[in-house]
Amino acid sequence: MKSKHIIDLEDLTTDELTDIIKLANEIKSNPSDYSDVCRGKILATLFYEPSTRTQMSFKTAMLRLGGSVIGFDNPQNSSVSKGESLKDTITVVGGYTDIIAIRHPSEGTAKAASMYSEAPVINAGDGGHLHPTQTLTDVVTLYNEKGSLGNMTIGLCGDLKNGRTVHSLIKTMSHFKNNKFVLISTPELSVPQYIKDIMNTSDCTYTEVSSLAEAMPILDVLYMTRIQRERFSSEEEYEREKGVFVLDKKKLLYAKRDLKILHPLPRVDEIAEEVDYDSRAKYFVQTVYGMYARMALIKTMLDNFDRNEPVRVFDTHNVKCCNPNCITAREKYLPKIFREVGGDMLICKYCEGRNLI
Ligand code: NCD
Repeated sequence: MKSKHIIDLEDLTTDELTDIIKLANEIKSNPSDYSDVCRGKILATLFYEPSTRTQMSFKTAMLRLGGSVIGFDNPQNSSVSKGESLKDTITVVGGYTDIIAIRHPSEGTAKAASMYSEAPVINAGDGGHLHPTQTLTDVVTLYNEKGSLGNMTIGLCGDLKNGRTVHSLIKTMSHFKNNKFVLISTPELSVPQYIKDIMNTSDCTYTEVSSLAEAMPILDVLYMTRIQRERFSSEEEYEREKGVFVLDKKKLLYAKRDLKILHPLPRVDEIAEEVDYDSRAKYFVQTVYGMYARMALIKTMLDNFDRNEPVRVFDTHNVKCCNPNCITAREKYLPKIFREVGGDMLICKYCEGRNLI
């Protein structure tokens, strides 16, 4: 494997991703063969932001592989509340454990953590940026429920601007042949430009629409998402956006018979409860696939990744990232590292924010 950390699912090649999907299925079929493969290994779950599924599925995954788990789900109960930096927390936890899953409200946190950790780091969600293990969950679900990962018309509906699961999923699915994305949102919550750039340079096509009912008949997959209340700057803004897109039985009358409805959960009000009883609803089965996906990822990383020797990284440019939610705005000691694109554009290596110079 080329990378020691999973910050983005792009850190895996398509072959490596396919191997993990197959391993997830193999573990699902023969769980007892894997019940001891991580004996003696320790996973740390560092959750600076609320979570039910991601945190619990990581923990269950490690326990089902025979390993152990430490960590926190409320940073106020850790030294973070005393002002400890991310760097110091990660340096210490990376010394105690074999693998770390981290979730944080700031974009680019997992990348920052990986620079100081001896143990391999998994991004369990960084602000509105990425959520690679949810995508792993989604692709294991799609592979099993659709039989392939290409040639699909995939509708993504809801908060496409702040939904990190949406960004990660588009990135990954645009590597597979002939996928068509139908982006269903209000103009205010459309996908960020860097995600559009990825679709533009891939084999896949996309359209942006504002009606879920009109898009319905052509979809093979519908990925519903909640409006990400915690990422809005005001309650009024959230109130304007909530409740715009609701999937109910009536809308499903126009859907294909083999449509698969996915949702990373938690659901708020964007899928009516009546839809749960439709055989096309796959969002609860999806959570089970997620546990096997994380078992496969943890095993693969522990089998293949060595411990790191963190090296000091220096500023590449004397510029502050313009994204106010970038981890560099919170943790000031972090080196300012950018990738140059074109003559006047710098991409922040933590959050992928675009900076004009
Ligand atoms: C998602 C997340 O945290 O980004 N949930 C999850 O991990 N399953 C989606 C969300 O919170 O809306």
